[in-house]
Amino acid sequence: MKRVCEFLLLSSAVLVCGSLMTVGCAPDKTPPLAPDSPQLKAFAPLPGAMESPKNPITEEKVALGRMLYYDTRLSKGQDISCNTCHRLDNYGVDNEPTSIGHRGQRGDRNSPTVYNAAGHFAQFWDGRAADVEEQAKGPIMNPVEMAMPSEEQLVRVLKSMPDYVAAFKAAFPDDKDPVTYDNVARAIGAFERKLLTPSRWDKFLGGDASALTPAELGGLNEFISANCQSCHMGPYLGGSLFQKLGVVKPWPDTSDLGRYNVSGNEADKMMFKVPSLRNIAKTGPYFHDGSVKTLPEAVSAMAEYEVGKQLTPDQVQAIVAFLDALTGEIPADYVKPPELPTSTRRTPKPDLSD
Ligand code: HEC
Ligand code: HEC
Repeated sequence: MKRVCEFLLLSSAVLVCGSLMTVGCAPDKTPPLAPDSPQLKAFAPLPGAMESPKNPITEEKVALGRMLYYDTRLSKGQDISCNTCHRLDNYGVDNEPTSIGHRGQRGDRNSPTVYNAAGHFAQFWDGRAADVEEQAKGPIMNPVEMAMPSEEQLVRVLKSMPDYVAAFKAAFPDDKDPVTYDNVARAIGAFERKLLTPSRWDKFLGGDASALTPAELGGLNEFISANCQSCHMGPYLGGSLFQKLGVVKPWPDTSDLGRYNVSGNEADKMMFKVPSLRNIAKTGPYFHDGSVKTLPEAVSAMAEYEVGKQLTPDQVQAIVAFLDALTGEIPADYVKPPELPTSTRRTPKPDLSD
């Protein structure tokens, strides 16, 4: 028995060495990074919640926000909710290049994930909303998304259901007239502020050196030597600054100029928010227009256009292995679809006109 164990130990050591070789670690003899390595100062584990002093998270707001998030009656056709494009059981995305909204219309940008998004310094690919509360108002009135014709119509829908009126009262007890567009956004925002997906990467940063496999550690080394963390940093590996897409080599497609469309400043042409890389293995297709299907292609493109480096297939594979370790756990209980208030005779009917 002892012999067998020794043999197993030996062969698994050989396997580990073998996989280090294939990820390109062994040739340059880079030792694996430890959780306290100075190179990892750029990163941090996820917080317990993404708090905002402007919109404190309360149980009542979260419960209301969860209902609103899942309720298709917030759309003109009563067929689209936030969850249609940001599926909470699917890492917060629809896996479409661009999303399908009211009357089957497609927008021109890819849906980013709502998981871990509330912690970003700004919302949307071009950062045009400051926080998730401001962001939540965009899609409800957007004619190619949920297409609600007006604030009044939205409030009319919600006030037609006594259970909603009660839920708004509970969530905003100091307000005389709590069923408002602003409070819809606050409740959804409070719900989003706890949409977090901690992963093995967080365990590793927390001090558990064995939380990442040798292949993933090899990929982490490659990620750092390619200087990806100069933009993809912090707890979200992104979400903390704008950068030019095509900073060292012009990006071929300039039909969407990013932040320039918001600011009109010449210097903002092709500037986009550096997206988070949390759950990136699950949230393809990639980039603001969803133009790139696979993660290895996206990693190669980044190396070429953002750092001016041609990565070998082994290096790309290694980085992808590291990125896989950023896939976290979906908080299944927190995102369970709630029971929604029942419509009444006063609730407006779906409207599928333009
Ligand atoms: C029809 C599809 C669709 C619907 C419905 C939709 N979204 Fe989005 N969402 C998008 C797209 C596309 C973007 C990116 C748009 C852009 O950057 O210009 C986006 C961006 C976001 C972002 C920004 C994330 C980031 O990393 O910047 C958040 C948060 C978000 N949506 C939450 C919501 C909420 C909450 C609702 C419901 C009130 C909702 N969305 C409804 C498609 C949709
Ligand atoms: C100079 C800043 C910068 C550097 C360096 C950089 N990135 Fe990016 N990254 C960006 C920006 C900006 C975007 C968003 C591009 C867009 O608008 O589609 C992005 C997007 C991505 C995406 C697609 C995300 C999504 O949700 O679609 C991946 C994957 C990615 N980067 C990985 C990497 C890797 C791996 C490296 C290192 C080889 C790297 N990046 C280096 C700025 C950078």
